[in-house]
Amino acid sequence: MKLESKTVIVTGSGSGIGRALALEFAKNKANVVCCGRRKERLDQTVELIEQAGGVGFAVATDITKKEDVENLVTRTLEKFGAINVLFNNAGSFQSIAGVYEADPDIWWTDVTVNLYGSFLTIRYVLPHMLERNEGIIINMNGGRPVGGTGYACGKAGLMELTRILAEELKILQKDVMVFSAGPGLVKTEMTQIQADTEAGRRWIPSTKQAFEAGRTNQPEDIARATIKLIEIARPELSGKHYSPNTDFSNF
Ligand SMILES: NC(=O)c1ccc[n+]([C@@H]2O[C@H](COP(=O)([O-])OP(=O)(O)OC[C@H]3O[C@@H](n4cnc5c(N)ncnc54)[C@H](OP(=O)(O)O)[C@@H]3O)[C@@H](O)[C@H]2O)c1
Repeated sequence: MKLESKTVIVTGSGSGIGRALALEFAKNKANVVCCGRRKERLDQTVELIEQAGGVGFAVATDITKKEDVENLVTRTLEKFGAINVLFNNAGSFQSIAGVYEADPDIWWTDVTVNLYGSFLTIRYVLPHMLERNEGIIINMNGGRPVGGTGYACGKAGLMELTRILAEELKILQKDVMVFSAGPGLVKTEMTQIQADTEAGRRWIPSTKQAFEAGRTNQPEDIARATIKLIEIARPELSGKHYSPNTDFSNF
């Protein structure tokens, strides 16, 4: 797919990797719809897009709320008339604790944002993509660390959703595709907590070690890989996983 004049929704684009994705999509001349809960962060992303000459649009959205997601889809279609790409980037990793001690509500928030929130955006965008017989959905994968079972279970569920959705789309014989993305370890608000807190250093010591050794990827790495994926995407490839190291000539 050529991104010029296409419309892309990036969830969680007020920070970190989501912001880098939004900027890279805008650089490639797509209309970028930025969503997340913190409106001021989304507005900053849109400002950066506009400063670079791109088109951005902020819609404050809690992806775990059906009415918010329906509003996101409605407002995007009103503004741009189509949704060509959905990047499910928003994620939550707040529960850093052993299973025996985890706060059940925080644990469930991690599962809910990563799995149910991504399901909801797909659920409300997909009918539109199926009707147009065109579209790409990308779901952000994540590690499965000890001490992060809420996050890990949410991401594991999301990867199953990706795999089975790819099968459903093949049965429906539609040119709508779904992929999974893995950014590697990137320094962001989410991972900084793992390095800065006692619980993070206890359960996920590898994050601080990698930070200190400079063994991290940049948020732009997965953003650039995503542009390449979209360029070469075709239905036979649907269901596959990519990362900044993927060789797209041999995907
Ligand atoms: N950083 C890494 O090393 C790494 C590695 C593997 C995978 N990932 C994945 O990459 C994605 C981006 O993470 P990041 O590292 O860039 O961390 P981040 O800066 O903390 O980004 C997470 C984003 O998700 C949004 N979000 C959280 N709950 C939401 C909700 N209920 N509704 C809508 N948006 C919500 C947040 O915005 P609001 O708070 O404003 O809602 C925020 O912009 C996540 O899916 C993460 O699991 C990251």
